[in-house]
Amino acid sequence: MAEHPFLLACRRQSVPYVPVWYMRQAGRYQPEYRQLRERYSLLDICRIPELCMEVTRLPVTQLGVDAAILFSDIMVPLGPMGIDFDIVEHVGPVTRNPVQSASDVARLRVYDPAAELPYVAESVRLICDNVDVPLIGFAGAPFTLASYIVEGRPSRDYLKTKRLMWSEPAVWQSLMDKLADVVIRYLRMQIEAGAAAVQVFDSWVGSLAPEDFQAHVLPAMRRIFAAIADTGVPAIYFGVGTGELLPMFAEAGANVVGIDWRVSIREARRRTGGGVAIQGNLDPALLLAPWSEIERRARSVIDQGLEADGFIFNLGHGVVFHQPPVAVDTLRRLTEFVHEYSALRIGA
Ligand code: CP3
Repeated sequence: MAEHPFLLACRRQSVPYVPVWYMRQAGRYQPEYRQLRERYSLLDICRIPELCMEVTRLPVTQLGVDAAILFSDIMVPLGPMGIDFDIVEHVGPVTRNPVQSASDVARLRVYDPAAELPYVAESVRLICDNVDVPLIGFAGAPFTLASYIVEGRPSRDYLKTKRLMWSEPAVWQSLMDKLADVVIRYLRMQIEAGAAAVQVFDSWVGSLAPEDFQAHVLPAMRRIFAAIADTGVPAIYFGVGTGELLPMFAEAGANVVGIDWRVSIREARRRTGGGVAIQGNLDPALLLAPWSEIERRARSVIDQGLEADGFIFNLGHGVVFHQPPVAVDTLRRLTEFVHEYSALRIGA
């Protein structure tokens, strides 16, 4: 497994072809997933290891991708901290008891995930026994988790979150510290159970000015990546709209930086300085475009990716949910194209 192209690319070693997987490769675009969701909630699927394994494995067999990602949600590890949340369809995570004051933060529990979320480790073990590509474990990053629990629901402008960050910096730091402690324990549990890589999703941190990212978020991120470095398992740090933050993303301590489509692969390499691998970055909306346009744009991403070692093909964010849904066949064809075109170019 250590020789798998996905893991070689994470370590910036040479590969026979460009490895590819997709954020939200398991989800509502799949007829099988939609059918399962008629009987089970998203959180049910997360809690039942057999279902979690099946849902995690489906895109691997259907699409031929080079990595599986644990089916779960970034909110899952917040439950035992004392966050009462639900994931509302077509809305997202909603928190019934938002965290907005010093006493709210003081009440948050840092706990042992092996004791309180045993089903997550069990799912990871079951997936590793039944899926023949590397499994990516994951967690939400402190800022993105904070954005859901401070706002209480998905937000456009993160006003409550930023107000807390600026007006109560000590409370904010304590919140970042507690979330980082839980993220570290949660990632280590997944690695011990067999995850071959981990991705930390900081989906909404691109809403911050560089100086705020540096002062109020980067220290927690550095602590997280430092605390899992001894495992030897590659870590990916992903965010949306992070173009101006990329030099600092490269300093956080992850092996791979995941980017969206607003910055080119070539420019992202330049901004991250070459010391990390790059993952991305096809606009997921392209999955609704004609194949000729998808292929043209994928070729450009691959050409830039191949300018140096250390490239993983992905979308710039998750597979979109749209009516009519993205065709499974489009993602299968894209996967095949990435493999074949990159193998040809590497061989030439
Ligand atoms: O293959 C995979 O990537 C699936 C595993 C996965 C899910 N969520 C399942 C899910 C992962 C890695 C996540 C992470 C996640 N969850 C993030 C970070 C990645 C990103 O998209 O930025 C975030 C921000 C969340 C919070 C969240 N959960 C949102 C915004 C939503 C969408 C709400 C909606 O209905 O449109 C969810 C729900 C969710 N989590 C779905 C899936 C497949 C949607 C499908 C469903 O409700 O069954």
